Amino acid sequence: MNKNYIIPNEWAIIEEGFNVENVEASESLFSIGNGSMGQRANFEEDYSGKTFQGSYIGGIYYPDKTRVGWWKNGYPEYFAKVLNAPNWIGIRIQINATNLDLNVCKISNFRRELNMKEGWLGRSFKAILPTGEEIEVHAKRFISVKYNEVGAIEYSIKAVNFSGEITFSPYLDAGIENEDSNYNEYFWETLKIVEGVNQGCILAKTLKTEFHVATAMEVDFAINGKNVAATHISIIEEKALTYTYKLKVSQGETATIYKFASYVSSLNYEKGNLIEAGFKNVTEAKNLGFAQLFQDQKDSWATIWETADIIIEGDIKAQQGIRFNIFQLNQTYMGTDARLNIGPKGFTGEKYGGSTYWDTEAYCIPFYMATKDASVAKNLLMYRYNQLGKAIENAQKLGFKNGAALYPMVTMNGEECHNEWEITFEEIHRNGAMVYGIYNYVNFTQDFEYVVKNGLEVMIAISRFWHQRANWSEVKKQFVILGVTGPNEYENNINNNFYTNYLAKWCIEYTVECLNKIEEKYPQDFKRIVAKTNLSGEETYKWIKVADNMYFPFDEEKQVFLQQDGFLDKELIPVKDLPKSERPINQKWSWDRILRSCYIKQADVLQGMFLFEDKFDKEVVERHFDFYEPLTVHESSLSPCVHSILAASIDRMPKAYEQYLRTARLDLDDYNHEVHEGCHITSMAGTWMSVVQGFGGMRVWENGVLSFNPQIPAEWKSYSFTINFRGNVLKVYKSQTDCKFYNESEKELKLMVNNMEVIIPSNQLLTV
Ligand code: BGC
Repeated sequence: MNKNYIIPNEWAIIEEGFNVENVEASESLFSIGNGSMGQRANFEEDYSGKTFQGSYIGGIYYPDKTRVGWWKNGYPEYFAKVLNAPNWIGIRIQINATNLDLNVCKISNFRRELNMKEGWLGRSFKAILPTGEEIEVHAKRFISVKYNEVGAIEYSIKAVNFSGEITFSPYLDAGIENEDSNYNEYFWETLKIVEGVNQGCILAKTLKTEFHVATAMEVDFAINGKNVAATHISIIEEKALTYTYKLKVSQGETATIYKFASYVSSLNYEKGNLIEAGFKNVTEAKNLGFAQLFQDQKDSWATIWETADIIIEGDIKAQQGIRFNIFQLNQTYMGTDARLNIGPKGFTGEKYGGSTYWDTEAYCIPFYMATKDASVAKNLLMYRYNQLGKAIENAQKLGFKNGAALYPMVTMNGEECHNEWEITFEEIHRNGAMVYGIYNYVNFTQDFEYVVKNGLEVMIAISRFWHQRANWSEVKKQFVILGVTGPNEYENNINNNFYTNYLAKWCIEYTVECLNKIEEKYPQDFKRIVAKTNLSGEETYKWIKVADNMYFPFDEEKQVFLQQDGFLDKELIPVKDLPKSERPINQKWSWDRILRSCYIKQADVLQGMFLFEDKFDKEVVERHFDFYEPLTVHESSLSPCVHSILAASIDRMPKAYEQYLRTARLDLDDYNHEVHEGCHITSMAGTWMSVVQGFGGMRVWENGVLSFNPQIPAEWKSYSFTINFRGNVLKVYKSQTDCKFYNESEKELKLMVNNMEVIIPSNQLLTV
């Protein structure tokens, strides 16, 4: 795998020169999407080399049969995965009688560009076919943000050295399989193929989940930019529909096909109306025309960037990295549909099945909350609220009672999909992240109404879980939580993971605090919730006893909280002393060796200090950072960002910058040798936090005041970002010498800057 082949550019991801080794990595990196659907950057024309074709629709999933070594009671029956959906980008191309296939042509001037400013994917190249014809190709494709069921392609071919025939065969193919299918099963059934004039549609349904999806296309042609009429011959196969158009060109002329396509699904339409809806979308798209759709796309992205952009001056790779992260986050989730969420790979690959993880609450919410309207983060919270019933069932299956909820580690519809006992049953800290997400949202937005209407029910169910999951230790005379896996998945079945115990205690305390507030300020709602959840004062008293008497492993000599009981029995050899050839350890060592080692996959104790930094003095954070970071291998994409933020908070800027580069360019520079599988979308929100919370020092703690403590890496000239804070738009700028805040809104804004209170009147600039 070629690392570092992406050309640095402020606004674009660019690849120059065709290298078969990079095809699958580029398919991930150049992915496009609009929050509702997305796809890998596969070629439109046939390609016989190694490729991973992928196109995905948010919310359309399949319960694949699980694969486990030895079945354990309590395992879920299936693993839901977002399905690789019918392919709409395909355009088979023949020059005279020869198929265009980059794997067998002589290629020059190959260039691929993902234009992040305007939201499109472009590709151009010159190719000499095995039969000698030379062509020049320019292709552009995007998935519309404004018309979120529509995508469009403009694909032009210039006949460089010949006069003859160019055959375009646009097709729809529902014969698609998931690369990660557990038993190589086929997940789609084709129901109907419908032909029209220059348009066609395939109606297919997913097996078992019975989602119906219509994939429609409509095409148009031009020669030298002028529209021409063309007629087709159609080929209808069992699962595919292909139209063949032959266009005559003279040497030097350019033939262009425009392909407009649409996915519509039974998530949003009556099943009987899908074909009509698909045709309507593509006809409207064709009538608007490629140029207009393209203009709309540029406008949509300009609006997104207004609040989302981070500008870094003086470090082009850092600039490209941060924009890539922000761009991919927006391509994955736009926040308009509470049924959707953010899969760790988004629409760029199949690992993690497109399902929802604790990543959303622990990492993604801050980004969406601060760069978009508050309704977006609220939709993410509503997603979990709507799945509360399933989380209670999930806990019941494991033996919990009385409305206790255990949110799944991995889910599509609220049911647990993961089945490895050490994660499914033991990685229960995820439950705490659900409450943390609510807490974070309420502090930032001050929308306490959410807790009253929805959040408290989730919190009660989770507090019930912690109360039941902890047990009294007669020896310790405290409550303990046994048999867990912390965020560091390189340790399983441990006792008293500091992070888990801390979250459990905190969840109970925060729930009780909210209960008291609601009892006092919203007595009617209090009655309603207490009746609905059957909660008694006696029960909450028992929770408080657990919280007040929670045990935390602590070493007096080192003055550090231990990741778990017995951590100091390990042989503590810092990561820097491990030979490079043995890393990443998850690819080089046996699992047995990893489990016994001291190496930490991702922030664990430090994850707690990151989430609850206000509860720990700076020296305490420093001491724990110095103890744990040297033992951390950062083999989860979620790790570097947390370390970058903590390092900045304890004034370790070189370390913060090192970890920042790792998180920001994780995929672009393929740190983990796996970008061909897809990009790490959820950790991209961590990259955003590294700038805004890390370098910018932004915090909103319990007092609800927005505060900053800006610092800047020595490598940068300046950086700036925008925050949407309770309807106020605030721009923050930091250079090596200056720090400025611009309140772009109509209301004055109170801030803490470097621990001093400042008030910025509306539309005023404050220089600190
Ligand atoms: C991490 C988890 C994370 C998951 C999905 C794993 O490698 O250890 O914490 O939830 O990836 O991003």
